[in-house]
Amino acid sequence: MYLINQFESGIKSIERIDFDIRGLVQNVFELFEMQANKSEIILSFENTNSQPILVNADEERIQQVLTNLVINSLKYGVNKGTTEISIQDLNEEKVIVRVTDNGEGIEREHLPRLFERFYRVDKSGNRDQGGSGLGLAIVKHIIEAHQEKIFVESSPGVGSEFSFTLQKT
Ligand SMILES: Nc1ncnc2c1ncn2[C@@H]1O[C@H](COP(=O)(O)OP(=O)(O)O)[C@@H](O)[C@H]1O
Ligand SMILES: [Mg+2]
Repeated sequence: MYLINQFESGIKSIERIDFDIRGLVQNVFELFEMQANKSEIILSFENTNSQPILVNADEERIQQVLTNLVINSLKYGVNKGTTEISIQDLNEEKVIVRVTDNGEGIEREHLPRLFERFYRVDKSGNRDQGGSGLGLAIVKHIIEAHQEKIFVESSPGVGSEFSFTLQKT
């Protein structure tokens, strides 16, 4: 509610701290473990680096971003599928966080509007009803408030990958 209100009024204040993004990924996976189990979706964290991955960002808001992306991957995922999060260095200053699923995917024509408020892909198919169409709009809002970037790549029947950049400390 709080976030939606801020979102409505366009407030862009974020509270940056330095934190280990690996911990957030683990939190979010723990929160959604039961829901993932129901569809036998495996949550996997690709972490080749055993060192902390320190980023400078609003931890609570980035948790919201990961949460919204993981919820979508479960909702639009396939039974016995996988949701994978990976974090890599992009350059000296940035890391890129990827949330990848092997779910139903999204037709190319929808991609340009996907982050718009209330935009949902055609509900006439086997899509889950009752989403608000706000999840990705909030994600984009938060990432842009950090002056970072968000990307999507998707193929129908193959899966989707949402990725965003974060500032390293
Ligand atoms: N991981 C995903 N796989 C397939 N489709 C997705 C995925 N994430 C989002 N979408 C599509 O993008 C639309 C917008 O997502 P979102 O803003 O979270 O709204 P909601 O989930 O409430 O419908 C969804 O309705 C769905 O069609
Ligand atoms: Mg959603």
